[in-house]
Amino acid sequence: MGQPDELLWDSEPRTVIKHRIYRRYLDCWMGKICQSFQHATIVDAFAGPGVYKDGLDGSPVVIAKAFLEHLHSERFNNLSVLCVEKRKDRRDHLESLLKGISRPTKLRLDVLEAGEALARHAQLDAIAHQYHPQTPTLWILDPFNWGGVPFELVRACLRRPRDEVLITWFADEIYRFCEDPSKEAALDRHFGHGAWREARKVRGEGPRKEALLKAYRQGIESLPGNTFTESFSVASKNAHARYSLMFATHDMRGMACFNQAKWRTDPHRGQSANEWTYERPTLFDPEPDLSRLRRGFESFAGHARTFESLVNLAQRLGFTEPQVRTTLNEMAEDGLAIRESPVKSKTPWPAASLIRFYVPTPEEDTDKVP
Ligand SMILES: C[S@@+](CC[C@H](N)C(=O)[O-])C[C@H]1O[C@@H](n2cnc3c(N)ncnc32)[C@H](O)[C@@H]1O
Repeated sequence: MGQPDELLWDSEPRTVIKHRIYRRYLDCWMGKICQSFQHATIVDAFAGPGVYKDGLDGSPVVIAKAFLEHLHSERFNNLSVLCVEKRKDRRDHLESLLKGISRPTKLRLDVLEAGEALARHAQLDAIAHQYHPQTPTLWILDPFNWGGVPFELVRACLRRPRDEVLITWFADEIYRFCEDPSKEAALDRHFGHGAWREARKVRGEGPRKEALLKAYRQGIESLPGNTFTESFSVASKNAHARYSLMFATHDMRGMACFNQAKWRTDPHRGQSANEWTYERPTLFDPEPDLSRLRRGFESFAGHARTFESLVNLAQRLGFTEPQVRTTLNEMAEDGLAIRESPVKSKTPWPAASLIRFYVPTPEEDTDKVP
């Protein structure tokens, strides 16, 4: 889709998928953050007009509803949502729409004018952290094109230890432009380094897009202060990513929320959705593919690991804690994992358990004559 000129534009199937991920992530993030901190902030830095022409809620409304409809909303503390929009007509539209949402004073929804990315970021950062320098802040960066998010902006958004970002990452456009010499300088600004050029050696659309995304994630992960990333891809007519939602955090609890959102959206692989087949009914519910997690655990054969370290590894690989338990159950059934301590426990894998892993014994050769 080109950049629409009108005030409102129609949603597309991928918009619904993007908002599903937002909502699922927010349900988890708010559940943790809004009960633990007196103040939290969400900066919807490319907010839009608040609704699509066909009636779908825009992201500021998705955020407001996540707060108001949350199971634990009553127990929530203060959340300030800063909705930043460049165009005046869209700001006005959003403002009047948000006025119609009845809400408690602890939920603030402000519509703000945009400015030059980095200068504006400094002002927004000051507002977001006005009560405390470590107020947890989620930055949502959802522009119309990749030029809207220079790497310096992402770096600035991740400067504080409790800040996280959700970025719309334009796989299609970046793939298309990566061989164009006139775009190299702009791509350097976007990636924050020149190492993305290595991805041009990779052949095939899907693998090259993956290599470009990996280069982008590596740039973010090299930022100071233990930065972790994950992504969820949205594909279109062909099976390759059209764009990805890129998540970055300094905290494994944030990663746990994003991984949960990914698996709810793609119950089979937790990695991607196709905008044309998403939620189309299938005959059987897909089984989650946990083979990568199992291979990770199998590499511990001959050693013991704490449950906590296994969960940590799983989250870095994009899996969830319940999936750690499922994988351990399956490995225990195959005689490849056993709880070493505690000896007695009501549940098979309590949080403080130590698990020992074993090498599979070779299949017995039944044909052999004794
Ligand atoms: C993809 S749309 C946002 C959609 C919205 N986040 C949603 O999910 O409903 C991008 C919006 O960013 C606005 N925009 C463009 N450049 C901007 C900038 N530098 N700062 C803030 N908003 C900008 C556009 O006018 C447009 O409304």
